[in-house]
Amino acid sequence: MTSNRFDTLRIHGGYDPNKNQYAASVPIYQNAAFALGTARRGEKIAAGTLSEAYSYSRVANPTVDVFEKRINLLSHGVGTVAVSSGMAAISDTIFNVAEGGGRIIVPKDIYGASLDEFDTFFPKFGIKADFVDDINNLAEVESKIKTDTKAIYAESVSNPTTSIADIEGLAKIAHQAEIPLIIDNTFCTPYLLNPFDFGADIVVYSSTKGINGHGNVISGLIVDGGQFDWNTAKFPQFQENEFTLKSEQFSENYSFANVFGKQAFIQRIRLKYLRLLGSVLDPFAAYLELLGLETISERLDKEVSTSLKIAKYLSQNPHVKKVYYSGLPESPQYKLAKKYLPKGIGSVLSFDLDGTFDQVRKLLDSVKVFLYLPNIGDSRSLIVNPLQITHREVPKDQRAANNLTNQLLRLSIGLEDSDDLIADLDQAIKKAFA
Ligand SMILES: Cc1ncc(COP(=O)(O)O)c(C=O)c1O
Repeated sequence: MTSNRFDTLRIHGGYDPNKNQYAASVPIYQNAAFALGTARRGEKIAAGTLSEAYSYSRVANPTVDVFEKRINLLSHGVGTVAVSSGMAAISDTIFNVAEGGGRIIVPKDIYGASLDEFDTFFPKFGIKADFVDDINNLAEVESKIKTDTKAIYAESVSNPTTSIADIEGLAKIAHQAEIPLIIDNTFCTPYLLNPFDFGADIVVYSSTKGINGHGNVISGLIVDGGQFDWNTAKFPQFQENEFTLKSEQFSENYSFANVFGKQAFIQRIRLKYLRLLGSVLDPFAAYLELLGLETISERLDKEVSTSLKIAKYLSQNPHVKKVYYSGLPESPQYKLAKKYLPKGIGSVLSFDLDGTFDQVRKLLDSVKVFLYLPNIGDSRSLIVNPLQITHREVPKDQRAANNLTNQLLRLSIGLEDSDDLIADLDQAIKKAFA
């Protein structure tokens, strides 16, 4: 591969047809296991020290490997692991960082299942969340750092109100405290934003969304920027000798930090979390991801342009109380949008209907082009009422602060004709208020 440009890498990155019977598109290696060759080769594969060598598809598979390598090249990371869902990416990452207990600083306005996991589920494993109302209130974030704080976590563009995180400011605070910054970059995809450019350490994705772009796979990704030093007392899991890494070369100090250096985090994800918790992506799913990824730039350019048109239309509709789309020039976050997301903030926007809950239901029952379903980043345009469906886990006393009302509707804009989408919303709003 001679080019490092995004649009070439998304088509060719991480794959060599010459090593695959000259197959132009990536073959699906539908194998549970691979012959190890010689005994010595088998030992090296088992220790994770031989690249592009496979033994068992729970740990690595050639088709999944191309998807991982391609995302890694697009992200400028030191390693990427694909997993079976976005939630698996978040779970594996938080456990790998805070294994054995600790605290994570988290904003409250994030995806409902993520919030539920931080609020009620991680604590059962000794990992507690210190929530902040506004992740960009850097003084508040800093005030939450305690001796056992293990990371700061945020969504680059939040679900569903598209708040943009000040990644650079957060990275500075995290690094002063010698903890990593973890960014869920699902809404942006690597095409619109590379959080590593602004100091993030680990990036997670639900690649179910814009990376795939066609709503036909559940999948997730963990990408390691390789800049964070895990070899400190706060993260002993990286310094412990790890039995599976013992080899001729590493017979004394066979810890993840010593064996893998800059790749310690991502290799530990693969060799502990994929191998033991087993949330692995299957080869056919990886193939569909690769197919979707080939058109990511064109899809997102069109979706961003249509989203902006729809946000403007909604801003002028008398039945709409408020539009949440940080890409609108009148948004209080427009400055952050320009800094972090010059190509656009993405294809998701939300709005508050100036009506009753019954009128919201009528609107949902009246759309004809928009599909009423809980997903985003599809080629089809989607609509959902977050408080009833995707964010129902948000505690009642938190909803107002997150702008989650019974009248809030979230849109994910697809590839249809923008005039048809506006006409569809217009007729559905008219019906709701008839
Ligand atoms: C921002 C964000 N992160 C993570 C997830 C979870 O992803 P998945 O559904 O692939 O598990 C979602 C799902 O909607 C999401 O919107």
